[in-house]
Amino acid sequence: MVQPMSAKTPESETVEPSETNGGTTHFGYQTVREEDKADMVRGVFDNVASKYDLMNDAMSLGIHRLWKNRLIEKLRPHPGQKLLDVGGGTGDIAFKYLDAGGDDVTVFDINDEMLAVGHDRAIDRGLLSGIRWMQGNAEELPFEDATFDAYTIAFCIRNVTHIDKALSEAKRVLKPGGHFLCLEFSKVVLPGLDKVYDTYSFSILPKMGELIADDRESYQYLAESIRRFPDQDTFKGMIQDASLDVVSYENLTGGISCIHSAWRT
Ligand SMILES: C[S@@+](CC[C@H](N)C(=O)[O-])C[C@H]1O[C@@H](n2cnc3c(N)ncnc32)[C@H](O)[C@@H]1O
Repeated sequence: MVQPMSAKTPESETVEPSETNGGTTHFGYQTVREEDKADMVRGVFDNVASKYDLMNDAMSLGIHRLWKNRLIEKLRPHPGQKLLDVGGGTGDIAFKYLDAGGDDVTVFDINDEMLAVGHDRAIDRGLLSGIRWMQGNAEELPFEDATFDAYTIAFCIRNVTHIDKALSEAKRVLKPGGHFLCLEFSKVVLPGLDKVYDTYSFSILPKMGELIADDRESYQYLAESIRRFPDQDTFKGMIQDASLDVVSYENLTGGISCIHSAWRT
């Protein structure tokens, strides 16, 4: 059983660009051993898998669909484009990619429960080809160099223990000319929205988690993990450090979420 080593309050929290530190790392506002984090993240998504899609719509009032649509617009799906969707969970990005004209997607996720929900959703949609489901860690992708034309990662990277490893793996598996796209919660940049968003994240969201999914802790972790994630420019620098090029970002809904785009040249 993995145990948190310490916990901080939102008020005492400071965000550090480096996600690990001397064998420890953060799990929301808790400090935990690096080697425990992936299991703890897996535990969160085991708990939320069956209610994940319902909760997404409830807590974002459906807005996550618009953010994902924007990611797909930037991806420009077309036949023959091989997509790897990391942290693909229950398949939203993959389904949107196929609906928009793509025909070859691998959904890759650390959590079997999320993948199982995604697989069932695919069958419900009659999607039997063009989509593969694979379990594994974003930090160690089981693919040859230069395999994919595009790599997407939506609302996953903040959960990864060593973000630098995941980024360098993204670069490795992309073909030259390949497109990297990351959709993630980010730092609110709209004056006034930050206070409202804070109240929502730390008071309302965990209560919704309790009422709808009978799981307050996972949604408390969600709020904390969002706050711990680097801001837009810091994350842009991390992508540049992984030697991906032409890095840019687009804020969505005042910076509540953000799409970072980069290319393997
Ligand atoms: C918030 S869900 C996002 C799912 C989907 N991309 C979406 O946007 O609806 C985050 C997903 O990332 C997965 N995940 C977390 N850490 C991971 C890791 N190190 N490697 C691969 N997947 C990971 C979780 O299991 C979960 O399915």
